[in-house]
Amino acid sequence: MSTIILGIESSCDDTSAAVIRDEVMLSNVMSSQDVHEKYGGVIPELASRAHQQNILPVVDRALKLAGVTLNEIDAIAFTRGPGLLGSLLVGTSFAKGLSIAINKPLVDVNHLQGHILSHFIKVPDKENRHPSFPYLSLLVSGGHTQIVKVNSHLSFDIIGETLDDAVGEAFDKCAKIMGLGYPGGPVVDKLAKEGNADAFKFSKPRIGGLDYSFSGVKTSLLYFLRDKIKDNPDFVNENVNDLCASFQKTLIDILLDKLILATKQTGIKEITIAGGVSANSGLRERITKEGINRGWNTFLPEFRFTTDNAAMIAITGYYKFKSGYTCSLDVVPISRILDYA
Ligand code: KG4
Ligand code: ZN
Repeated sequence: MSTIILGIESSCDDTSAAVIRDEVMLSNVMSSQDVHEKYGGVIPELASRAHQQNILPVVDRALKLAGVTLNEIDAIAFTRGPGLLGSLLVGTSFAKGLSIAINKPLVDVNHLQGHILSHFIKVPDKENRHPSFPYLSLLVSGGHTQIVKVNSHLSFDIIGETLDDAVGEAFDKCAKIMGLGYPGGPVVDKLAKEGNADAFKFSKPRIGGLDYSFSGVKTSLLYFLRDKIKDNPDFVNENVNDLCASFQKTLIDILLDKLILATKQTGIKEITIAGGVSANSGLRERITKEGINRGWNTFLPEFRFTTDNAAMIAITGYYKFKSGYTCSLDVVPISRILDYA
């Protein structure tokens, strides 16, 4: 008997719903919110309101595209956290209401676990390689940066993480400082392609072990530009490609240094990346190159599974549900999750 899961994701500014049958994705519908662009960042209250408007049509469309009726669903998986509380509340309340209405069980999902397991989503008519356990996941999103040892679909050890900013935040702040808009990552990525990555040097953190820090490198960019702009107000405009390329290279170096150390410490050569920043072309290129040189078995997620999507929530819900897990209607969203449940 096959198992059908409806996944709902609403942790930040994208409303998404997906349907999977066993590990195969039948649909994955997204509705992005552009109301935040003019503010240079996500405004939580506007995000919650947009989720409320989007969620019903998005779920409806995901079911229609999958050719699945509500009756055929075995469980409803939803993002419990981490994320913006108001946004999470919309998805959680919707999932609970639907669970009561159609009398199907609920499965709460950790958003980060979803990113990590996005490598297991099977897409019809594709090769569908996936990592074997144990593997290392370099989780790089807007709010988190971690190296996670993945022991099974349901067992995770965080072996390194950022002590301050996330790498996605560093990309976003870099773009903000240079007036390039929000979200910054994709813009910096694009401009960096035409730039010289060795044009400028930014200081790297000296943190022991597998932990990261990204707040210093951001400050180093800020002071560097402040100095340069004093002499030449057009400095950013004239050097935007080189600045993006050099700053991006610094971030990638920081990420890779610790990942390489983690592979040495654990002896694990099965390597994945996940989260919004895993869409970065410089990072993808570099990790592929390191992988070839170092004999890693490297897995890059498909672009549509790098940023927030409900297919990753559905697949995680699937593994939890198959293990016998469901949650009660009392479950509440949480904005910060320290551990993987
Ligand atoms: O995983 P995600 O969609 O949301 C969170 O869970 O945080 O990640 C969003 C982050 C943002 O910081 C965005 O700037 C970054 O991912 N991002 C990128 C790229 N695409 C998205 N960063 C660098 N290069 C990209 N191409
Ligand atoms: Zn995310």
